[in-house]
Amino acid sequence: MNLRSFQTAFTAPMLDGYQKGVMSYTYKGVRCLKSPIDIAICMRLIWDLKPRTLIEIGSHSGGSALLLADLLAMSGCDDTPVISIDLNIPEGIEDSRICFLQGSVLDLGPVLEPEGLANLAHPWFVTEDSAHSYDGCMSALGFFAEHMQAGDILAIEDGVLEDLGLARKYQGGPNRAIADFLTARPESFEIETGLCDMFGQNATYNPNGYLRKI
Ligand SMILES: C[S@@+](CC[C@H](N)C(=O)[O-])C[C@H]1O[C@@H](n2cnc3c(N)ncnc32)[C@H](O)[C@@H]1O
Repeated sequence: MNLRSFQTAFTAPMLDGYQKGVMSYTYKGVRCLKSPIDIAICMRLIWDLKPRTLIEIGSHSGGSALLLADLLAMSGCDDTPVISIDLNIPEGIEDSRICFLQGSVLDLGPVLEPEGLANLAHPWFVTEDSAHSYDGCMSALGFFAEHMQAGDILAIEDGVLEDLGLARKYQGGPNRAIADFLTARPESFEIETGLCDMFGQNATYNPNGYLRKI
């Protein structure tokens, strides 16, 4: 399969300051490590998709889960639960819309099956924002290819790390995983270019990373 380039629209000098801002951003006083362009893309995605389940892998401090819960509420998805998974559950966040679960992207079955995975209402919006390692991304892609339904959206986040010169540290990270997975299983997901390219080709931290289940 011939995949288009994973290069983002960002230049190195621009990324330098942008990345510092992303890493120090807070939402409602809680760290939230999302790029502002991707917050805008998510806002649009949630409005258009109207997910009935939102799964985030990589809670960190809980700020992104709070933001996603608020974006759901703003879009009329008040009953959509946010399930947020991390090796460590963030402390100090009590929100009835969010269920924080302890677990690893490398073994999602034991984390999600007790939550009634088969009965979680579709459409799903899943955002994989945890280890960013090649193996972690491949694990998420494989798991959700099995459990998602056509039309559900999976975001494999932070392929921008290649443009930041960090790909080797993550064994190629999200970009290599997306390329390998889509080449091996082209019937599983398609790249949602309407999301990836909303502000210019791959003007996102998730180049070719917004995937729609086929
Ligand atoms: C980039 S941060 C998540 C940022 C968060 N989504 C946000 O936007 O604020 C990555 C998180 O992934 C978690 N993590 C690392 N390896 C993991 C794994 N194997 N499974 C699940 N979470 C993992 C880390 O503990 C860390 O909190």
